[in-house]
Amino acid sequence: MALVGIGTDIVEVARIAEFAKKAGALERIFSDEEIAYCRARKNCFEHLAVRFAAKEAVYKALPFGGVAFKKIAVYNGPDGAPRVQVDDARCAGLKILISLSHTRQYAAAMAVVENA
Ligand SMILES: CC(C)(COP(=O)(O)OP(=O)(O)OC[C@H]1O[C@@H](n2cnc3c(N)ncnc32)[C@H](O)[C@@H]1OP(=O)(O)O)[C@@H](O)C(=O)NCCC(=O)NCCS
Repeated sequence: MALVGIGTDIVEVARIAEFAKKAGALERIFSDEEIAYCRARKNCFEHLAVRFAAKEAVYKALPFGGVAFKKIAVYNGPDGAPRVQVDDARCAGLKILISLSHTRQYAAAMAVVENA
């Protein structure tokens, strides 16, 4: 295993709540599955904010740019731990790990990219 990159990001939950008021804004960044996961939870905007932070963190950790956030999909495994799938051929052979944390005010994420 060789470390390729790391990334981190922190997001104010209130900014995502504000952003979400614009028609179609969430759909431009998040998949239907991500939106459904967050909407099913009590503190929806915390979960959306942390997914936004995760996409930023993954973007920073990747060794190339130009990946649309919609192509970076965050989902949860059966144990609740978050996973990420990037729809970009350049990610072949890369393993991407993320860790998320959120409070009422802030959401933070970190990402690690390794050669698989
Ligand atoms: C799962 C757990 C780690 C989440 O931590 P938390 O402080 O409650 O909440 P955070 O805001 O930091 O993290 C929430 C995120 O953790 C992630 N998460 C959930 N289960 C996870 C797991 N098993 N492993 C890694 N990450 C996990 C999720 O991404 C979640 O956010 P999401 O629902 O938006 O995807 C926590 O609830 C837990 O079970 N801790 C174990 C505590 C324990 O057993 N302590 C022993 C004391 S002796």
